[in-house]
Formats: sequence, structure tokens, C-alpha cells
Amino acid sequence: MGVIGLLTAGGDCPGLNAVIRGVVGRACQHGDEVLGILNGWEGLIKDRTTPLDRDKVRGILGRGGTILGTSRMDPYVHGDGLASLHGTLSRNGIDRIIVVGGDGTLRCAMQLADEGLKVIGVPKTIDNDISGTDITFGFQTAVQIATDAVDRLATTAEAHNRVIVVEVMGRTKGWIATHAGLAGGADYILIPEHEYDIDHVVDVLRRRHRSGHRYSIVVVAEGIDPPPGYEPAEVKKDAFGFDRLGGVGYGIAAAIEDRTRFETRVSVLGHIQRGGTPVASDRVLASRMGVAAADFSRDDLTNVMVAIRGTEIVPVPLSEATSAIRGVPEDLYATAQTFFG
Ligand code: F6P
Repeated sequence: MGVIGLLTAGGDCPGLNAVIRGVVGRACQHGDEVLGILNGWEGLIKDRTTPLDRDKVRGILGRGGTILGTSRMDPYVHGDGLASLHGTLSRNGIDRIIVVGGDGTLRCAMQLADEGLKVIGVPKTIDNDISGTDITFGFQTAVQIATDAVDRLATTAEAHNRVIVVEVMGRTKGWIATHAGLAGGADYILIPEHEYDIDHVVDVLRRRHRSGHRYSIVVVAEGIDPPPGYEPAEVKKDAFGFDRLGGVGYGIAAAIEDRTRFETRVSVLGHIQRGGTPVASDRVLASRMGVAAADFSRDDLTNVMVAIRGTEIVPVPLSEATSAIRGVPEDLYATAQTFFG
């Protein structure tokens, strides 16, 4: 067999180094060679690589970020697809790649697979929105960070009798918002999957304040639509062509304050949700997925994504994994709604 190319692409997330360690550790056991590709697809286009062996991946399990670097470069947006990778692949004898990425990266991997490259995907994102897998690593860490923030913000909100709007990441889905809001006891949670009425939000907060609880926490997913009349002046795009989100919490806060006159503040958690050490469950999941990817490679099981279903690690076709962006089911949101106000 040839060399396995290993890359991490798209936004980083806690657990990437655990996957790298998992792939390399297992591939070494199989006697397979792994070449790390630097900075995502960019390294494959520009031939930036580093050999990886067991020693190179010692001491990285609990480290945030990725020792390989990442970028939002895309061979179909910034090159000619597989043709722009041929030079690097043939010069280094790479005959398959393990791609650790989110939705945009996995779509790109599937296009390359359609052009004939052997690809194994490993789903990674704090957003937890990849189809075909029950959960993605990085998500539990982001939820823990956001929950800690909600807990902290609740005490300062209470001290000042304020409303605090906590905006969390998640792109077009509300997984982090729903989990962190539920875990933190939020008084309202707004997610893109569930249409909201700002006047209902306000009614719930007024009722709560009337009952003597004169502070509230509203958790907002960054991907919700702004309330009518509070739209931002412009929306920027990232390298994959996705909207760059962030800031909708300010519109929600203004709409609440305008209607209630309750003093309202905003905390946009941003990239802190992606940084730092992964929680134990993400380290375990990422390690299992990395090891499985190396096993799939040995078995020549390609054009699949490593997934977890229940407690089992299984291969799913890349086509299934990229078929849709997975959203929060209504019953989970309904559970969180039970505790609003
Ligand atoms: O997809 C992960 C994510 O953190 C989203 O939750 C967020 O919208 C986006 O990436 C931020 O991207 P960037 O790091 O490019 O600002």
C-alpha cells in the first residue's frame, strides 16, 4: 500500500490532535506510513507536508488546536479539484487521504472521491451538525465551555437584575445552544430550527421578573434570524462561501430592552468555544475515530466517513454524511422549553 495523507481542514475543534494521534498510533501498528499535510487542503495544493510517526504524536492528546494546522482553503474554490493535488500526491506516493473536517470539508472530500481519489472522512465540528453520526467530537467540549459561561453569567445577571443574552456558535444549527441552555437552566433558548416570536420571548421574561426573579438568561444560537427591524447592515462570507455569523445576540438584546426596559447585556462567546483542551469524552471519541480511520485504510474501506451510532464505530458512505445538515430534533428542544421562564 502507498502512503496515507492525513489532513485537518476547516475550523478547528478540540480533539483534532487526539484523532491525529489515533490515526498515527494505529497506522504504525499496521506498518503503514502516514504523511501529515499542513494547513488543510492548502498543504495538499502547495506540497507542504511532514512525516508522522509514533514519537511525533506523543504528548498531544489533551492539546487544543491541531499540530497540522488548518485553513478554509478548498481545492474546488482555490484550484481545479483533484488536478491541483496531483503533483503533491504523486511526488509523495500518497494513494489515499484521511480527511478530518466538517460539512464543507467532507463535501469537498466527496467530490475528490468522485474524481477517483481514495478518501476516508472523520467528522469534526463543535456544531454537531454532520449527518450519519450520532455526535461529533469537539461538541461536548464546546457545550461544557458554554454551560460554564451561562453559570457564570447567571450570577452577575442576578446581582444586577439584568437580562443577559448569551450568543453561542453552531452555524445554522442550534445544538450548542440547546444543550448549553438546557444544562445551564436558560430562561429562553433561540435556535434556527425553531421559529421564534420576540414578543413571546418578552412575555416569558416579564412573567419571570413579575414572579420575583428579576434577572434572566437568554441563550441564542448565532444562526437565528434577527428580529424584524434589528437586521445587521452587512453579512460577510467565509472562504467556503458560508455566511460569517456572529452578533445576532445584539439584535435580540436590543429588541428585549426596547420592549421591556429591563437592563440587558450581551455576551458573544465566540472562538473560546473552540479553544483549549478537549473534555474526556471528546478525547475518547476522537481517539476511537482516529484508530478506526487507520483500520478502514488498512482494509481498503474508502469513500466512507467514520461515524458513531449508539456505542459502535461504523463506516457510513460519504454521500450519506453530506446529504443534509443535521438539526436539533423537536423533542429535544421541547424538553428545553419545559424550563423556560
Ligand atoms: O463550524 C465551526 C464554527 O466555529 C461555527 O460554529 C462558526 O460559525 C464558525 O466556525 C466560525 O468560523 P471562523 O473560525 O472562520 O470565524
